[in-house]
Amino acid sequence: MPASPATAESTLPEFIWDEALIRRYDLSGPRYTSYPTAVEFTPDFRVDDMVKAAGRSKAAGGPVSLYTHLPFCAHLCYYCACNKVITKKRDKAMPYVERVLKEAAIQSKLFGADRPVQQLHWGGGTPTFLPKDVMEHLMAGYGELFNLQSGDDRDYSVEIDPREVDEDTLPTLWKLGFNRISLGVQDVNPVVQKAVNRIQPREMTEGVLNEARRIGFRSINLDLIYGLPYQTPESFAETLESVIDMSPDRLSVFSYAHLPDRFYPQTRIQGDTLPSPQQKLTILHNTINRLLEAGYEYIGMDHFAKPDDSLAVAQREGRLHRNFQGYTTHADCDLVSLGVSAIGQTDDAYFQNNHDLPAWEQAIDAGQLATIRGVGLTRDDQIRRWVIGQLICQFRLDREQFQAAWGADFDSYFADELRRLKPMIQDELIGDDGRVLQVQPAGRLLIRAICQIFDLYRKEGASQRFSRII
Ligand SMILES: C[S@@+](CC[C@H](N)C(=O)[O-])C[C@H]1O[C@@H](n2cnc3c(N)ncnc32)[C@H](O)[C@@H]1O
Ligand code: SF4
Repeated sequence: MPASPATAESTLPEFIWDEALIRRYDLSGPRYTSYPTAVEFTPDFRVDDMVKAAGRSKAAGGPVSLYTHLPFCAHLCYYCACNKVITKKRDKAMPYVERVLKEAAIQSKLFGADRPVQQLHWGGGTPTFLPKDVMEHLMAGYGELFNLQSGDDRDYSVEIDPREVDEDTLPTLWKLGFNRISLGVQDVNPVVQKAVNRIQPREMTEGVLNEARRIGFRSINLDLIYGLPYQTPESFAETLESVIDMSPDRLSVFSYAHLPDRFYPQTRIQGDTLPSPQQKLTILHNTINRLLEAGYEYIGMDHFAKPDDSLAVAQREGRLHRNFQGYTTHADCDLVSLGVSAIGQTDDAYFQNNHDLPAWEQAIDAGQLATIRGVGLTRDDQIRRWVIGQLICQFRLDREQFQAAWGADFDSYFADELRRLKPMIQDELIGDDGRVLQVQPAGRLLIRAICQIFDLYRKEGASQRFSRII
């Protein structure tokens, strides 16, 4: 098992798999890409609330993160739970991007055009569905509306479907300023690929990854999913060997939750072709062991990274943060989000655009913002967001740091939570020496359950609206 470089302040525990504990604490739980989580967003939070939040953000200044949701995909993957629009018509891309730029013009005024864009992300759907000239048009428009950066410390990332890459795609993205990519893979096994309607030969993925590396992209990530039809512990072990051979800097290994009532495309997947819960647990256990053995670090919440990748470094140094794009090293960025269903964030608010494409288009065409819900944060929400952020990113919480950040005594503020944490301390998911709460090796996989203790909105524990932890 790889040891993390240890310092007095940031010794990361190793990993322990305890199946009895996993079963006891395997409740459904939020992924805490926000706190309060998206289920607390309400339609009472209106466009003018968003405008005021953006105004406060502008007054405070500082760098921003710019997210764009690009929803189109040429083919439907049957497992997919993302907000996407399946179409073969590439000519849909330009009108969409024109509207994104209209929305960007409004938001740039609200948030401030001068603030450095330290982080930029194109997600989807499939951003590489966009023809080259459309990508260029979008980034050129952003260049006029925002203060895009060219320094090495910028993180400009894009989600790539290797099936939607031609010889121009990667050089174009590099020229546009992207320096990080994430490739959707899911599984390299042909039987699994056929069952989920995603034929993507291993050589295709490897070719794109090698080309990206040659061009200079760093922190190259691959997405895998376990729990897909026809996967077995043996088949997934083989997939993992192929992927380790490709040597990505980061790996996301997501759990597939089969919810055909919620995600219509999943009705094309037959329940009896899925691995059993016990097989899924075995796959996860083997995957973690193998990735640790191969030299990756477990960052938490489905994410692995090589020890020299910026995510692993930031975690060791206590600088890791989490937002809607997952883990990030950019703590102080407010999130300006554009496109259908996109979620923005400031110090004291979250707000989401309409997730229905025609409705989003209608709002933009009327010269309006498309915010349909959100939530304003109380001071208590901000405090709890900080606490959950420390636990989920750093796996530790220092009472002195809490006092310094919030001017409050941790033990008095969280007396009830500390009482409810006791069984977890007894079960050695988390340790408490009176100064620091430290997530223990057996607690790292169950971090969502630990975080839920500090979540005011789920004091009673599990809520069925969240996917299962494992
Ligand atoms: C927007 S897609 C990535 C970019 C591109 N569309 C692609 O598929 O290559 C984001 C990722 O979400 C994950 N994902 C989508 N649906 C999922 C589901 N039902 N369960 C778990 N992961 C899922 C996949 O790993 C996918 O790569
Ligand atoms: S996984 Fe990616 S390519 Fe497949 S449908 Fe979802 S967003 Fe589109």
